[in-house]
Amino acid sequence: MAPPVLRVGLIGNGTVGAAFASALSANHERVTQRIGRPLRLTQVVVRDPDRHRRALPSIRVHDDPEGLANDPSIDVIVEASGAPDAARWLRRAMERGAAAVSANKLAIATDPLLLAAIARRHPLFHCEAAVAAALPIVRALRDSLDGEEILALRGVLNGTTTFMLTEIEAGAGFDQALNAARRHGYAEADASADLTGRDAAAKLAILATLAWRAPVTLSDVPTRGIDPDVIHLVQTARALGQRVRLVAEATRSTGLQLRVEPQVLASNDALARAEGVVNVVEVQSALAGSLTWYGAGAGGTRTASALLGDLLAAARALAGSRADRIAA
Ligand SMILES: NC(=O)c1ccc[n+]([C@@H]2O[C@H](COP(=O)([O-])OP(=O)(O)OC[C@H]3O[C@@H](n4cnc5c(N)ncnc54)[C@H](OP(=O)(O)O)[C@@H]3O)[C@@H](O)[C@H]2O)c1
Repeated sequence: MAPPVLRVGLIGNGTVGAAFASALSANHERVTQRIGRPLRLTQVVVRDPDRHRRALPSIRVHDDPEGLANDPSIDVIVEASGAPDAARWLRRAMERGAAAVSANKLAIATDPLLLAAIARRHPLFHCEAAVAAALPIVRALRDSLDGEEILALRGVLNGTTTFMLTEIEAGAGFDQALNAARRHGYAEADASADLTGRDAAAKLAILATLAWRAPVTLSDVPTRGIDPDVIHLVQTARALGQRVRLVAEATRSTGLQLRVEPQVLASNDALARAEGVVNVVEVQSALAGSLTWYGAGAGGTRTASALLGDLLAAARALAGSRADRIAA
């Protein structure tokens, strides 16, 4: 008997969602081979289904995310909407036994139940795309370093502020740098989550939850972002051969210390290598020592890579251990 089709529903068809739909279509044969069963994207949910869309042949496009979450024909929900309500849809899908994949750091980092699922490595919930796009930092903490004691982690996790700080280093004013970030598609019209540090704090909350296996929410992270005053700090640092970056860090000693703030970094600090939309993450662990990840932390295609990987992980989790037996 042919294996049943794995049905995927996508919420969001913007920068990330559209890139994911294209990547899935371009890699369809590879993905189906790897999961060992046919796969179809059957529904796409958006805010406004009447707006013109890039061709989504034989896919139902609608505006009912709740309905998608409840639809028993959908095996995996991939969420790339940025909607604040998304946590409810993701939980609902998982409650009925479907798998959920999300790129939505703010929805995850404000939902204690999803954070609890992350802390205990729930096999049906995957969120690599929510932190640093395709840098495999979520999977590293979740799986590769799972037996380890994590001592500290720090990173430059927000591409918009890094791009702006790079522009300011080159002489731009604050608003000029922000407008350049918007022109390049790095900052949204409302860039407040980037500028206040909330975006970086949400990513730190997810990483700290994974590292120390207990929910850390966005509100647990003392956060200071960047404003026009940062120009003076950048200029002073530059004169001394140093750089300013918005750093997110967590350390475990007597308790858990968390913070997001602009920091002056020595030129040989790994985090000072972050330029443009490059993210850098550094983890200190008892056995592995210091590990660093470096690469583009934003953009539709980069983030689609992480969503594809999570889709495969979700499909394998749904299949259970059946497919994983080694033939004698
Ligand atoms: N952009 C990046 O580089 C990047 C990187 C990593 C993670 N992320 C995360 O990925 C998510 C999506 O980001 P994006 O840049 O792709 O955003 P975007 O371009 O604004 O796209 C959002 C999409 O979601 C749909 N949507 C929004 N609210 C909805 C709702 N309540 N119900 C149904 N559909 C809704 C929108 O529908 P309409 O098309 O009808 O407006 C649109 O298609 C966010 O959580 C973001 O933080 C983004």
